[in-house]
Formats: sequence, structure tokens, C-alpha cells
Amino acid sequence: MQILVAGGAGYIGSHTCVALLEAGHDVIVADNFSNSKPVTLDRIKAISGKDLIFYEIDVTDAAAVETVFANHVIDGIIHFAGFKAVGESSEQPLAYYYNNLVSTMVLARACEKYEVKRFVFSSSATVYGENAIPFVETMSLLPTTNPYGETKAMSERILSDVARVHADWSVVLLRYFNPVGAHKSGLIGEAPNGIPNNLVPYIAQVARGKLKKLRVFGNDYPTPDGTGVRDYIHVCDLAEGHVAALDHLSEGVHIYNLGTGQGTSVLELVKAFEEANGMAVPFEIVERRPGDIAECYADTSKAEQKLDWVAKRDIVDMCKDAWQFEKGFKE
Ligand code: WQD
Repeated sequence: MQILVAGGAGYIGSHTCVALLEAGHDVIVADNFSNSKPVTLDRIKAISGKDLIFYEIDVTDAAAVETVFANHVIDGIIHFAGFKAVGESSEQPLAYYYNNLVSTMVLARACEKYEVKRFVFSSSATVYGENAIPFVETMSLLPTTNPYGETKAMSERILSDVARVHADWSVVLLRYFNPVGAHKSGLIGEAPNGIPNNLVPYIAQVARGKLKKLRVFGNDYPTPDGTGVRDYIHVCDLAEGHVAALDHLSEGVHIYNLGTGQGTSVLELVKAFEEANGMAVPFEIVERRPGDIAECYADTSKAEQKLDWVAKRDIVDMCKDAWQFEKGFKE
């Protein structure tokens, strides 16, 4: 199929483009490089050995999006193009609501006009809020602690309501847990602008000597070692989950957790990174980070059964691949 990948130059988008091309799909990328770099497109082509079509556009711009849909027969769309920093969303709520919601609505309206009936949306486990773990797709969503999470829950609602009036549409909402790691080639990976918010890129920059030491945000959580527990999933497993979703489309709205079902604490991850890469990662325990929850991991049974997909890479793979990308990274 010819797939429009909105945000395809980004961290998860680029890895998904590689997986799509390797699975024989054709790819059109729309990206404005607000949180990505042009060189990533060359690396997607180098890894996959395939070409792709690219539009440098902002997908909140309806006229620009119209050009893409008018010029190509699009069989389906995967929408990654959103701002995604939890802390930043609390500082810039309007930027997050505008960008993340308008992009979803602009793309959905174009799908209506051009009768594109397959829509895969990049959602997040954040939408579960403080539900009991493991998170299951059938749970009612609870308020999240931040505008970012709210934009994901609202986008899910928008797409679900649109699907309700288009019975022949297939809408898939993929709820990511904690994507980490990088393609084994070391050519693409997570390269956040500025100081990383997320744990693994921060650890990798400490390992490279760019940052002095890791601050562990609290060790007084009700968890085995007191530090936060998360369900880390290799970004390539996540990418393959998107291909599996396209391979198993059916009409209606379908929600899937994309995680491993395993919880790993901060200190366990630090130890795994040190052992996988033969180095020390200095850290200090500091205060909790506002908005963090103690534990978060997925019930993965629905994706395993309905998508015939399961995460294959373990925490050692994630740490090795993250470090391989980081040590080769050029500013
Ligand atoms: C993981 C753990 C921190 C940094 C967020 C979003 C989620 C998704 C992934 C987009 C927590 C601890 C972290 C540090 C630390 N983003 N930590 N020191 O907050 O679970 O999830 O990113 O889809 O939607 O909510 O990820 O990597 O920031 O934190 O101790 O310097 O590491 O307290 O326990 P998080 P994270």
C-alpha cells in the first residue's frame, strides 16, 4: 500500500518508515522538521535501499496537506506528527492543543475528502492516567497529569467519532509505552533537541560524557527498589507493530497497547545499560519529578492475539542499540 507517514522524519516515524519500506509498502513522508532532521530521510533510504516521496510541510496547514492528497493515491495514513514532551506541554498548553489536535483534524478531513479509509494514530499509554496496572485497552480513560496526555486522549476521541460516521473506515489507535533504543545500523535513533527529558537518551548522553550524571527522580515510590517502573519497548518492535496493524486492518475503531508487558525500574535500567555496554553511569537520587506515576506497564495480550505481534527485543538490546546510536552521533 502507499502510506502517508505524517511525522515520518521523527524518532518513531523514521523507524516505522524503514519497517514499512522493508515490508514492501510505498511511503510518502510529510514532516516540517520541528523535532527532526533532513538527514534522517537519507538514512531511511540507505537502511531500506528504497526511495520515498517527501513533502516538507506542517500538517496543521490544510492547504499544504491538500496538495499531498491531490497528487497521490493514498491507501492509508500513519499520524506521528505531534509534540510529545510531557513537561513542555504543561509550560506551553496552547501550542500542544493547537498542533496536536489541528493536525489530527486536518488529516482526518483530507481523508474524508479523498476517501482514504485507513488511519493509524500514534497514541500513548499516558491516556490511561492513574488506572490500575497492567493497563488494558478496555479501561475507561482517567484524566492525565498534562496537556500532552490530554491531546492524545482527545485525538483518540475525535478519530473514534469520525469513524462512527464512516462505517467503512479502519481506525487503529496504538498506545505506546516507553519507546527506547535505535535501529541496529546506528544510523537512526532518538536525538532530542536540547537536554533530554526521557531517561534512556539522558543516560546515553551521560555515558558519552556530554552530561555529568543522571538524576534519579525519587527512590521513595512503592516499587521494589523505590524508583519508577516503566514498560520500555524497543523502537524497532514498535515500528514492526505498525506494519502488523496495517496487515490486520478491519473496519471500525481498534485500540492496541504496544509494550512488552515487563516493568523495569530506573535503577534496573541503569544497571542494564552499564552491563550491556561495559561502562559506569554515575547518578544521584533527587526529588520526585512532578507528574510522574510510580509504575506503568502494559497488558499486551490483545496485540499478540489480534495483530499476531509481540515485542522480540529485550532491555539489553535496547541499551546496546541506544548506546551504538549515541556514540556515533554527530551534533
Ligand atoms: C521514565 C522513568 C522517571 C529522566 C514519557 C511520556 C510518554 C512517552 C515516554 C511520548 C520515570 C525516570 C527520567 C531522568 C529519571 N512519551 N527519569 N531521570 O515519563 O515514563 O514517559 O516519555 O509518547 O508519553 O509520558 O518517560 O523516560 O521521562 O521517565 O529518573 O532524567 O525514568 O522518573 O520513572 P515517562 P521518561
